Parts: sequence; C-alpha cells; structure tokens
Amino acid sequence: MSVSSFSFHAFPQMETDRFILRKTEERDTRDLFELYSEEEVLKYTQLLPFSAEDEAWHEMNWHMEIFTQQIGIRWLIEEKRSGKVIGTCGFLHYLKEYGRTEIGYDLAPSYWRRGIMSEVAAPILAFGFNSMNLNRIEAKVDPANVASIGLLTKLGFKQAGELREYEIEEGNFIELLVFSMLRKEFSVLHLL
Ligand SMILES: CC(C)(COP(=O)(O)OP(=O)(O)OC[C@H]1O[C@@H](n2cnc3c(N)ncnc32)[C@H](O)[C@@H]1OP(=O)(O)O)[C@@H](O)C(=O)NCCC(=O)NCCS
Repeated sequence: MSVSSFSFHAFPQMETDRFILRKTEERDTRDLFELYSEEEVLKYTQLLPFSAEDEAWHEMNWHMEIFTQQIGIRWLIEEKRSGKVIGTCGFLHYLKEYGRTEIGYDLAPSYWRRGIMSEVAAPILAFGFNSMNLNRIEAKVDPANVASIGLLTKLGFKQAGELREYEIEEGNFIELLVFSMLRKEFSVLHLL
C-alpha cells in the first residue's frame, strides 16, 4: 500500500480553464455569505441559510481548521473572469490510514448546469487519488438531490448503498444514498 505524499504544509492551489481553486482568505467573507444565504444551496444539508456575515466567518474558520487538523481540504472556486468566489468543493473526514475521504461541494444557483462542478471536481479527484494516494472517495446524498446524483454519476461514482433514517429533514427521518469511487475505477476512467 502506498503512503500519501501530501503533507498538509502548503495549501494545494490548482486551476482549471475557467477557475482558480484556492484556500479561503479573509477577503472571501462577502462572497461566502452570499453563497450560503441562498436557500437552494443549503437545501439538502442540515444548515439554514445564513443571515449574518459572522456565519460566513464560522464557515471560513472551519475550512482552516480541517486543514490544520489534516482531516480535510476545502477549495474555494474563484471565477478567473470576475474574481468572484462562486462555490466550494473539497474533502472532509479524511482518514489517512484507510486512504479514504468524503467529497462535498456547492455552487451559487445562477451558475448551475454549466458544467462548472464537473470541471472543478475532476482535478480535485485527481489530487486525491494522485497526491493523497486515496483509495476511496465517498459522497452521501439526499435521494431528492437529483443535481448531486447526476454530477456524481457523470464523474463515474457508483451508488454503493443507503443509510436508512440517517438524517432528519423537516422533522422526518430521511435516508441518504452512499456513492463512492475507488482508485482502480478512477485509473480506468482517467488513465492514472
Ligand atoms: C450539485 C451541484 C454542485 C452541481 O453543480 P453543476 O455545476 O450545476 O453541475 P454540472 O453542470 O457539472 O452537471 C454535471 C451533471 O450533473 C447532472 N445535473 C446537474 N444539475 C442537474 C439538475 N438540476 N437536474 C438533473 N441533473 C443535473 C447532469 O447530468 C450534469 O451533466 P450534463 O449537464 O452533461 O447533463 C449544484 O447543483 C449545487 O451546488 N447544488 C447545491 C449544493 C448541493 O446539493 N451540494 C451537494 C450536497 S451532497
């Protein structure tokens, strides 16, 4: 089994054709507040839309904390053309010894369905499998979240089970679907 070569010292900034994937900075408060004020962005999470900028601060601190604790990496998605942060994507619950992590993402609704998360997730998955030497990347999704299911399917994730009555939504228990991609599947798809 190979060991991760990524040491969490420097933040792994990357870029795609249209976006810079970078770490959270103080100047991002306004853009993140705007992003998480949108009800649709948080619809399938346990969070309520933000109503004050310090909630964005809290979120930004979480980005920094998970990196410091080496349990996750959250990239901000900055549009090169406008300099605006329009979403985030990254890993959480990273377990180095098992080579596994979970992926999460969100994007401002006015940017949906333009192939943005597909463009951004590809180098993030590659970073996970190549530089972090992950074996498995998992996603937990609300069955009603067709956009997220569509994205995962397009990226090559496979549905691998369901978590019965795992979360509470509007007072009712709901199941979550578990999707995953394995290193050997990623290498076939992306010629690792
Ligand atoms: C999930 C999300 C990040 C998708 O981002 P996106 O940039 O719009 O996704 P893409 O444009 O790359 O779409 C990839 C594929 O997903 C599917 N898809 C995306 N949005 C869809 C929708 N509203 N309905 C059905 N399929 C959809 C399509 O198959 C699409 O491929 P195609 O356009 O070639 O047909 C975005 O909808 C979002 O931020 N949602 C709110 C946050 C969230 O739910 N996060 C995930 C929690 S698990």
